[in-house]
Amino acid sequence: MTLQNDLILRTARGEKTERTPVWLMRQAGRILPEYRAVRDKVKDFIELATTPELAAEVTLQPVDILGVDAAIIFSDILVIPEAMGLPYEMIEKRGPYFPETVKSLADVNKLRIADAQADLGYVLEAIKIVKRALNGRMPLIGFAGAPWTIFAYMVEGSGSKTFSKAKRMLYTEPVLSHQLLQKITDSTIQYLKGQITAGADLVQLFDSWAGILSPEQYRSFALPYISQICDAIPEVPKTVFAKDAWFARQELAQLNCETIGLDWTMDPIESRKIIGNGKTLQGNLDPCVLYASYEGIRRETGKMLQAFGPHRHIANLGHGLYPDIEPDKVRCFIDAVKEFRFIP
Ligand code: CP3
Repeated sequence: MTLQNDLILRTARGEKTERTPVWLMRQAGRILPEYRAVRDKVKDFIELATTPELAAEVTLQPVDILGVDAAIIFSDILVIPEAMGLPYEMIEKRGPYFPETVKSLADVNKLRIADAQADLGYVLEAIKIVKRALNGRMPLIGFAGAPWTIFAYMVEGSGSKTFSKAKRMLYTEPVLSHQLLQKITDSTIQYLKGQITAGADLVQLFDSWAGILSPEQYRSFALPYISQICDAIPEVPKTVFAKDAWFARQELAQLNCETIGLDWTMDPIESRKIIGNGKTLQGNLDPCVLYASYEGIRRETGKMLQAFGPHRHIANLGHGLYPDIEPDKVRCFIDAVKEFRFIP
């Protein structure tokens, strides 16, 4: 089916478009009262994410309420560890928690390669419902965590400022680390292919903890696996968002992907020089700009758009929306992108 709004897909492929497209990381979620109303009907986040009708409903909310140019399927990156045999809990106000973690080779051997249909059928079902409801209005973004970030949660067992248990494993057990990273990679490829068959029009890899690795560790333990995933998915455009990995931009530019996500610490003009003209760039407004006045938001959004220029840029934040940002401020950002006129 041809899409009525395919701005993001055309921009990803490097075509010139009539305006810069826009969506937001974490657009489906706690900032919307409509989300909280659905969330209050269920026990917890996991019940919401594993009930396809409800996951589809909250995926569609920002499409109409905020006016974005794409939907992103409501799920979490931590469904992959669960599908491999390591279940998680989502603890209110604290975040993810794994009752069991990976500590030894025996633990790695116990894990299975995720089967998209058998283990993650609930996400694929939600994608199908969303696609039917969107009826070609705009693309649907599928996603997964990048292998290093998933490894970090599976070894650490929760969020962490340092992820020192996970980094310790890279230094002390490199062979085991590579075995686990390969299993995560194989699972992620199956999963993303399942999402694409179900209807995802493009996919994004979130490497949220990229920035805590040294450049050398990133080169050994992160990039080769992201590269395998990009090579294995020729079907749709791919976005790689490696948060805080300013040191890896040159290498990210060599990946077989269409778009590189930038966080707010990466200057648009400098990033374009480092990455070259072969990729679309996505980002990168500091989410905290959305605490500013409407005038401040329009000004900062304009500066960002002008710095990226009119082509090969997908407007977004430099990371996910924070839960206490007001929906009207988000709308202001989206409208500012849609109304902006470039200064030649
Ligand atoms: O709108 C969207 O972007 C789609 C949905 C989405 C969620 N998580 C839903 C969610 C996406 C793309 C994610 C990705 C995700 N999950 C990442 C990568 C992006 C990033 O932020 O760096 C990471 C690291 C996670 C892991 C995770 N999930 C954490 C650390 C937490 C707790 C912190 C928090 O924000 O509460 C979650 C929970 C989570 N995932 C929520 C949502 C809407 C909040 C829980 C709730 O509503 O009860």
